[in-house]
Amino acid sequence: MVFGLAGLLAAGVACAALAAVLLGGPMGGGSPALPTPAAATPALIAQGAYLADVGDCASCHTAKGAPTFAGGSPIQSPVGVIYSPNITPDAKTGIGAYTVNDFARVLRQGVLPNGQSIYPAMPYPSFSRLTDADVEALYAYFQHGVAPVSRENRPEGIMWPLSMRWPLTYWRWLFAPAARPFVPVKNESPAVSRGAYLVEGLGHCGACHTSRALTLQERALEPDRASRYLAGSRFNGWYAPSLRGDDVAGLGLWTDADIRDFLKSGRSGGVAAFGEMGEVVSHSTHDMTDGDLAAIASFLRTLPAPPHAQRLPRPAPPTGVLAAGEAAYSQNCAACHQPNGQGVPQGFPALAHNPVVNAHDPTSLIHLVLKGGAIPKTTKSATPLIMPPFASSLSDQEAADILSYVRNAWGNRAPALSAGAVKSLRAALKAPEPPPPAPPSKTPSAAAPSPSSG
Ligand code: HEC
Ligand code: HEC
Ligand code: HEC
Repeated sequence: MVFGLAGLLAAGVACAALAAVLLGGPMGGGSPALPTPAAATPALIAQGAYLADVGDCASCHTAKGAPTFAGGSPIQSPVGVIYSPNITPDAKTGIGAYTVNDFARVLRQGVLPNGQSIYPAMPYPSFSRLTDADVEALYAYFQHGVAPVSRENRPEGIMWPLSMRWPLTYWRWLFAPAARPFVPVKNESPAVSRGAYLVEGLGHCGACHTSRALTLQERALEPDRASRYLAGSRFNGWYAPSLRGDDVAGLGLWTDADIRDFLKSGRSGGVAAFGEMGEVVSHSTHDMTDGDLAAIASFLRTLPAPPHAQRLPRPAPPTGVLAAGEAAYSQNCAACHQPNGQGVPQGFPALAHNPVVNAHDPTSLIHLVLKGGAIPKTTKSATPLIMPPFASSLSDQEAADILSYVRNAWGNRAPALSAGAVKSLRAALKAPEPPPPAPPSKTPSAAAPSPSSG
């Protein structure tokens, strides 16, 4: 995707060299052993089940159509496909033979019982925040609350030399915290501390919402002076917007209730969850208690807008582009999102004052327009509402014009898009080709959607 293999290899070699110089040996040496686990009471198992939802373990560790937690789900990484392992308590193919300390070491440090390091596709740098009590509850659940499934792990689809695991150890020494025990946030309420624990730790929100360096580590794992934490990042063809206090492109104008509703039901005020976030809502945040959702909202509130957020250049697109975009918007989008961009309450999302629409990075917008989307079904909102894909009915230029218009109408303010940006994401997503250009004609045509798609 974004990273050249050569760049990554160079980074790997540089890391290795640097690590050897700096450290000369493994850091931290592991955390102290956990006490023999308390008896796996039903209450402890239930607590572990809840934590597994918060950590969204199932969405990565379950392949389509396969038993939950039995692994085999392909996870795209910049170096190739990694297949998640079986984490059911099967003794041979799963983690049935794990001790509680083996489990703690994988979760918090990314080290397997055989001493090998794992890929950070497993968000162990975030999970390093986990308390002993939570690790024990998760262990009780995965040993006693989950049915064992015999299913061999699939080897990763990563080519040599990146498939060698020893560089991962250097990566881990350099970039993953050896231990990051949770400390309550200074001068803040217990709710803010709880929220920080969930967001920085088990919820691993930064895995998608914090940008990564060339060497793939998140630029910050917790609030930092440079305000890079949760400031927005591109991920698998989506853009996960800033969760900080920016007014235009962040959560600055959202109320706490907006944040809670969004995480609970996938919608709030005018917006709806889509893409990767739809999965996060339906598999994880939807099941969180109201108290935990409120805690997350109150923690996110403490993150100010990054200082550069207001200074991003936001020149208005030329009027020709806006006019073309507006016309194509009326034809293709206004039926659902309304001519005034306000959407339909409890129906179609509003595009006015929408952080995704105003995000500097338009990846999510282009992705949605090309491939469409569906509002995740949750118990709170049972109606599945669909946005159709436009890849085969809009040209690159038309899609770019519409989005440039949407990003500058109704109080929105974000840079215009080029046809080239649509073209390259179309290729990256393997979305259908645009319609052939219409023969030049002087009469305005009603751009009839072709019934036969390629
Ligand atoms: C974003 C995806 C993702 C999430 C979320 C995730 N994992 Fe993983 N996990 C992985 C991947 C990928 C690997 C394999 C990495 C490798 O082989 O290098 C892995 C490896 C593991 C292993 C090592 C298994 C073995 O013996 O090979 C355990 C145990 C584990 N995960 C438990 C969990 C638990 C418990 C949770 C939830 C609290 C969780 N994972 C959440 C992706 C994920
Ligand atoms: C697997 C990647 C991923 C993870 C993990 C993730 N998000 Fe997201 N998130 C996204 C993407 C992509 C979007 C943009 C799509 C959308 O708005 O639904 C998004 C959007 C959001 C939005 C709406 C922002 C807006 O402007 O519309 C909120 C709020 C949010 N995420 C909160 C969280 C929180 C809190 C967590 C951790 C508990 C989290 N996310 C974890 C990918 C992720
Ligand atoms: C048939 C109704 C329909 C049409 C037509 C439609 N959309 Fe949508 N749109 C939706 C639905 C439903 C969602 C929510 C999708 C989801 O959550 O996955 C959505 C979501 C969006 C979002 C994300 C908003 C958010 O934060 O949730 C944008 C941006 C968007 N549409 C733009 C457009 C544009 C541009 C067009 C025209 C090219 C268009 N839509 C046409 C129904 C529609």
